Amino acid sequence: MPDTLTITDNRTGKQYDLPIMYGTYPTYGAAIRAADLRQIKASDDDFGLLSYDPGFTNTASCKSAITFIDGEQGILRYRGYPIQELGIKSNYLEVAYLILYGELPTHAQLDEWTWQIIHHSMVHENIKKFMDGFLYDAHPMGLLVSTVAALSTFYPESKSITDPETRRTQFYRLIAKMPTIAAFAYRHSIGMPYVYPDDDLNYAGNFLNMMFKMTEVKYKPDPVLERAMDIMFILHADHEQNCSATVMRGAGSSHPDPYVSVAAAAAGLYGPLHGGANEQVLRMLRDIGGKDRIPDYIKRVKTGEFRLMGFGHRVYKSYDPRAKILKDMIGQILEVTGKNPLLDIALELERIALNDEYFIERKLYPNVDFYSGIIYQAMGFPVNMFPVLFAIARASGWLAQWQEMLEDPEQKIARPRQIYTGADQREYVGIEKRK
Ligand code: ACO
Repeated sequence: MPDTLTITDNRTGKQYDLPIMYGTYPTYGAAIRAADLRQIKASDDDFGLLSYDPGFTNTASCKSAITFIDGEQGILRYRGYPIQELGIKSNYLEVAYLILYGELPTHAQLDEWTWQIIHHSMVHENIKKFMDGFLYDAHPMGLLVSTVAALSTFYPESKSITDPETRRTQFYRLIAKMPTIAAFAYRHSIGMPYVYPDDDLNYAGNFLNMMFKMTEVKYKPDPVLERAMDIMFILHADHEQNCSATVMRGAGSSHPDPYVSVAAAAAGLYGPLHGGANEQVLRMLRDIGGKDRIPDYIKRVKTGEFRLMGFGHRVYKSYDPRAKILKDMIGQILEVTGKNPLLDIALELERIALNDEYFIERKLYPNVDFYSGIIYQAMGFPVNMFPVLFAIARASGWLAQWQEMLEDPEQKIARPRQIYTGADQREYVGIEKRK
């Protein structure tokens, strides 16, 4: 059986054989090259056929060896390793290394990597002054996006994007400084003094320190919450070609430095359709208010009045594996932080929905956001910090996607085509003659 696709153009009667390409799995990710469609023309002066795909829902924009998702089976793997295993056995910095370099680090590599990240976590004092200029009620995501972009001006050598050594230094800086900037953004919003990084703590513990340290001489993170934070970072580290990764690749394809590209990607994440859904879940659980009101709520969802937030996913058509991990660890977290009545509502809502024909038929299962908001809230994070937490974790994924794009000889500056639907050429009309 030849690996080709035969297309007949009924306008001309001509036939075309287009080669089919494959990735690792022949049944998942087979594609034709969109450029091969250009030979299909209705006449000699025809530009050639384009493929039309708003939102790129069926377009492979790249070949990638970083993250694999099979939405039907509920599989998520980074560099071949299942997320469940990484969540239990690994830590965020090891996962960041894996995502960026393709292999789990040796002892020596991990020590060096961890040392470098810890020792790049301070920010220039002028960054503090820069952040002081924002209004007290500025959204922390706005602060994060602008401040990460501002880092570009502090490290002009980062423009040498083709040099692997220079790139590596920016990886240290970005992965190390994102938590510092995020925590400063939070402290700024509540009028608290900034807390400097503590080199004795691990990545997650130090972030909690910079967020929550009060007057104690030394902040000691609760080990359960420190581990929970680390797992949250692991689960959010990459998710292949989503909106923000696509922005990272698109902005990076014109070869600016990585700071402004990460800022652009974070801007893509900021919106409620991407990084903000867990906030909507919390609102929904509060709206429901009690377990006895769930059946009525579900009834209204089924009539199309509104959607069940935290349910359904564009890619996952079974249980989101990340949601499963969160559900399993939520009890342990609440033992430390105290009971959260919203969890009881969430568990009952999930139980009812998963037994309801409407949700079964449409393959609607809880996604990662269904439980992440409850966990963040229990840990003391305000709702407007939720997308910021997402951005800290995703920095490693964005940088890995960016590096892969730069090293791929087939990649070009992102420049899609369009199907023009506007007016044909017309003559300019002077203002006095316009109706
Ligand atoms: N509640 C009720 N019904 C739903 C839901 C939901 N959460 N999600 C989809 N449906 C229904 C739709 O109404 C539609 O029904 P119909 O066939 O009778 O018209 C059917 O399921 C298919 O819906 P689509 O919109 O085509 O599914 P799509 O894959 O495009 O949507 C999305 C995915 C946007 C995530 C959707 O499920 C949704 O809006 N969920 C709620 C918001 C949410 O939780 N977002 C977080 C996603 S995870 C992340 O971004 C990290």
